[in-house]
Amino acid sequence: MKFNDADNTQEWAGCVALFSSQCTRIAARDVRGTLVAENRKKGKIDLMPIQRATAQALPNIALVKYWGNRDQALRLPSNPSLSMNMAGLTTTTTVEFDPALKQDVFLLGGREINGQGLERVSRFLNQVRLQTSEVSRLFARVDSRNNFPSGAGLASSASGFAALAVAASAAAGLQLSETELSRLARLGSGSACRSVPGGFVEWAVGDDDRSSYAYSIAPADHWDLRDVVALIDVEHKAVGSTEGHAVADTSPLQAARVATAPDRLAQARSAVLARDFASLADVVELDSLMMHAVMITSSPVLMYWQPATIAVMQAVRQWRLNGLAACTTIDAGPNVHVICTAEAADEVALRLRVIPGVRQVITARVGGPAHLIPNH
Ligand code: DP6
Repeated sequence: MKFNDADNTQEWAGCVALFSSQCTRIAARDVRGTLVAENRKKGKIDLMPIQRATAQALPNIALVKYWGNRDQALRLPSNPSLSMNMAGLTTTTTVEFDPALKQDVFLLGGREINGQGLERVSRFLNQVRLQTSEVSRLFARVDSRNNFPSGAGLASSASGFAALAVAASAAAGLQLSETELSRLARLGSGSACRSVPGGFVEWAVGDDDRSSYAYSIAPADHWDLRDVVALIDVEHKAVGSTEGHAVADTSPLQAARVATAPDRLAQARSAVLARDFASLADVVELDSLMMHAVMITSSPVLMYWQPATIAVMQAVRQWRLNGLAACTTIDAGPNVHVICTAEAADEVALRLRVIPGVRQVITARVGGPAHLIPNH
């Protein structure tokens, strides 16, 4: 048989695809073979092996905030957002689809979680089970650990669902692209879609489930910004983001915030790309304050600030007027993220530590994408 060039190219592409899919199968069989052997040694004979994978992801801090959904179930946001990943704060998650399990099990920091926390993880796993027959009938054990406090405005749901998306899809034998992983993570927690890509990340609203995902606009080493976090309270917050998004439209200010968000996003994107701190600082503070204006005028009222939150915001504004390259942004919690240049970071941390009510100061650099940890 004779091929023309186009045919040859197609044939070659076909061979490469076949070869790489066989390699993937061989690799998967090796991993599973080991687990089957271990189970047999322990006297357990499973017809189907455990399928396991571990992933790591970082939280992200939004420079332009996501608040409110057009579609609450699919987490299609009302407005676009922009964030940077926070290096050094990690969530590490292992997922095992195990034929011996009678239901999903969720461990967070070694503690078994039941009720709503487990239901949210189970609902998420259903999205993965829907995508492949390999694990469609298997329950999973999810073991997730953060090296930072959960639920206090440090975006643990973002790193949590990003790590879970990467680990669960790999354990299920799926090979998803970054875009597909970002979409999947979004279903667990909106901001989690921004923790899948690395560096500075934009989440365009999209029109539907397929088109709503996040992508990197610049890698982590593009600009050495720091997020110096003033921890004011690390207790679990009373009203979580999910309930908050659901009531955003009850605020008379939300429509104006959403209508003007694309302009703030454009300014923030240009400022990041041009490494223009003064322009970034203006838009970051304005955007955070607009989100909190919506929160405190919602029904019910969501007031996350504590006295020390306001003290830090006022101090940082004064420092900036006096020439320090720093600005504040606050998520759904009392802690204040002070975004600053690398040169200003030590001075910012030093000054934050002596403000009454600041319990601890953590500094994060800009971090990379979510990823699998092989052989974990
Ligand atoms: C204030 O992503 O935590 O941090 O989708 O319900 O999990 P769910 O909400 P979540 O909301 C984040 C809100 C925010 C702002 C932001 O990160 O953009």
